[in-house]
Formats: sequence, structure tokens, C-alpha cells
Amino acid sequence: MDFFSRSPEHTRRLGERLGSALQTGDIICLQGDLGAGKTTFVQGVATGWGSVDPVSSPTFIIVNMYRDGGERRLFHMDAYRLDSTPEAEELDFDAMLAQGPLIIEWPDRIDGLVPAEHLWVTFEHMDAEEREMKFRSHGMRYDHLLAVVRRAAFGAD
Ligand SMILES: Nc1ncnc2c1ncn2[C@@H]1O[C@H](COP(=O)(O)OP(=O)(O)OP(=O)(O)O)[C@@H](O)[C@H]1O
Ligand SMILES: [Mg+2]
Repeated sequence: MDFFSRSPEHTRRLGERLGSALQTGDIICLQGDLGAGKTTFVQGVATGWGSVDPVSSPTFIIVNMYRDGGERRLFHMDAYRLDSTPEAEELDFDAMLAQGPLIIEWPDRIDGLVPAEHLWVTFEHMDAEEREMKFRSHGMRYDHLLAVVRRAAFGAD
């Protein structure tokens, strides 16, 4: 699925549609240059998922955790500042994935560590307010997830 966004609001709205369909254990990878719109998209994802916490860019801590007012958790990782694979290997993916969905910005920095099944989104900066997003599913769960998002965004397939 390819999607063309014309504003940050537009990107957030698409993120909301994905967020509301996310389940514990889901892995969403967001690849794209600085300022491409990954964190903006995560703001929408968190809203759609039901976060009561505001989204911020994980900086010194590599992973942010958002709550939903109940027991559920949403994890937001930014691998940009991970300088080495050993550092990334300290991250306990299994523990996070047992508690909620995981969104990864700059997944290309930790390529070998991303589980084989995931949704991969590539952001491209087209113009001041225009971004292209390419969604690629890897695994059956993500074929299904993408179909749900596509239906929500575009109506029937
Ligand atoms: N269509 C659009 N979608 C998303 N963001 C947009 C769009 N048009 C303009 N913007 C602006 O581009 C910037 C995107 O910043 P954002 O922090 O989301 O990027 P990022 O990909 O997370 O970058 P980084 O790699 O530094 O974390 C924001 O200032 C946002 O307002
Ligand atoms: Mg970001």
C-alpha cells in the first residue's frame, strides 16, 4: 500500500487508523530521513491506540512507553542514537512485545535484530508538506493489519 500525505495532520490521521488496529506483539518499523514524519505518524498511532501519554522523541532513553489508562502499553523506540549492535542487543524485545505493540524509528540501524515478521513503512520527503509512505507487510499478521488499515483509509478494497 502506498499513501500520499499532504500535511502533518493527514499523516497523524493515517497513524490513528493503524494505531486503533494494533495488538500486543505487533512490530511496526518506520524508516525515513530526519524530518520525514515518523514521529508525527507515531503521534497518530498513539492516539488511535488509546494513549493517555503524549508522544515525544525518545532521546537519551532509547524507548518510550505510553499507557492507555489500563494495563496496556505501547513502546516507541528510536534506534538513531544506538551506535553499536551490542548496545541494541541489550534491548529486551521479547519483554516489550509481551506487553504491547512496538514501533521502531530508524529500524535500519538495528537491521539484524528486527524480528522477521513486521510491518515496514518507508517515509519519503517529497515537498515542504508532502510525504510519501510505502507500507510493506512481512508475515500474515501484517497482511491482515494492512488490509484493515487500507479499508479504514480508502473504504472497501
Ligand atoms: N505531510 C507531513 N507529514 C508529516 N510531517 C510533516 C508533513 N508535512 C510537514 N511535516 C513536518 O515535518 C516534520 C516531521 O518531523 P518528525 O519529527 O515527525 O520527523 P521524524 O521522521 O520523526 O524525524 P527524526 O528522524 O529526526 O526523528 C514536522 O515538523 C512536521 O510538522
Ligand atoms: Mg522522530
